Amino acid sequence: MNIVLGITGGIAAYKTPDLIRRLRERGADVQIVMTASAGEFVTETALQAVSGRPIRSNLWDREAEASMSHIELARWADVVLIAPATAEIMARLASGAAADLLTTLVLATEAPVAIAPAMNRVMWSNPAVQANRALLEERGVAILGPGRGSQACGETGAGRMLEPDELADIVTGPGFAPGETGGALSGKTVVITAGPTREPIDPVRYLTNRSSGKMGYALATAAARAGARVVLISGPVDLAPPRGVETRSVLSAADMHRATHDVISDADVFIASAAVADYRPVTAADKKIKKTGETMTLEMVRTPDILASVAALPDAPFTVGFAAETDNLLGYARGKLENKSLDMIVANCVRDGKAFDVDDNAVEVLWADGQQSFPTTGKSALAGELVDLIASRYEATRGTGTEPRLSIIRLNDQT
Ligand code: PMT
Repeated sequence: MNIVLGITGGIAAYKTPDLIRRLRERGADVQIVMTASAGEFVTETALQAVSGRPIRSNLWDREAEASMSHIELARWADVVLIAPATAEIMARLASGAAADLLTTLVLATEAPVAIAPAMNRVMWSNPAVQANRALLEERGVAILGPGRGSQACGETGAGRMLEPDELADIVTGPGFAPGETGGALSGKTVVITAGPTREPIDPVRYLTNRSSGKMGYALATAAARAGARVVLISGPVDLAPPRGVETRSVLSAADMHRATHDVISDADVFIASAAVADYRPVTAADKKIKKTGETMTLEMVRTPDILASVAALPDAPFTVGFAAETDNLLGYARGKLENKSLDMIVANCVRDGKAFDVDDNAVEVLWADGQQSFPTTGKSALAGELVDLIASRYEATRGTGTEPRLSIIRLNDQT
């Protein structure tokens, strides 16, 4: 694995020679790219000695660019890891700046990007830093840590760079780079729906909902990291397509239904995280509807149930639904699991501004004979845990010769 290790100017940079050693022990080739201030904390001589490669730090270094340009370096990388990542580099990455070698390279790479933030605990909790973290996470950057504990500044709290051993384990671990073999979903195709749908009323108006797509996009990133080929069918959202994922954009429930069935025959796993409109206006007017009486009635008709239609296929993939409920969460979720013949359902409470269009979520996952709780955490971390659970339930039910679909058929017969 080729790893570009970006080192920025934080005190934790003194740990990077150890990090390089641990990455190399795991078989990685490591190319260092330092920012100008990183040299205040660790020397080029030490880094060159442990990495065995000349250090890159300057976008305008003609000699270095002649041997491997920053674009070639961006292509060479299987993973870009920035450790330590200061508040400054997070802000520059979030803004899309490209004034130096490291930020230019991050914009130019198709490899997964991971950052290991390290800073004083108050800086880490600053709303500006947290907004940058959330934005980077939304764009598919893996945020590794920070850990909690005593800090170089004498304070104690969240902001320590994860230990070199832990970072090395994560980025060289199975499935970190999309398409890597050895991940929990390696060799599998996963189709995911995400975001809201838009049901047109007339040329300027539509019905939609508050789904941001964050949960579905995080699942797509996590499934790709677990080694799957991922097709993401997305309603209209304001998120960048995740790296290494085939993203297809749709608008209405009917579009999403069509796009799903175009690809579903390849799928081993289907995850329906989209908030699909249950009804649409019977007709979409071709001219803007004019204001007339004090009230207006819109006649609505049911949309196709994408999830139920996939679960009903003769050769259905392992099918995971979501249930968004304001009350009787577990009762309604189990009803959907059984009535729609699903392998698994992820239930989230959407009361009091929860789940929709926020960065965190808490869910309860149900399947025919089991249940597991996932307490509130960032959607990215939650998606990783859900993908692990889906992979293990897939393996238990569809893997080497177990009975599960039978239990689902029995379940349907009872309802
Ligand atoms: O996008 P975010 O802002 O990150 O928010 C995430 C989320 C809250 C949207 C997500 O976690 C979630 O709960 N998604 C499902 C929302 C929903 O529509 O739930 P439901 O209970 O109404 O639908 C049940 C299931 O049927 C869902 O898997 C849904 O995708 C599917 N469905 C519903 C109707 C329809 N016509 N076709 C479907 O496939």
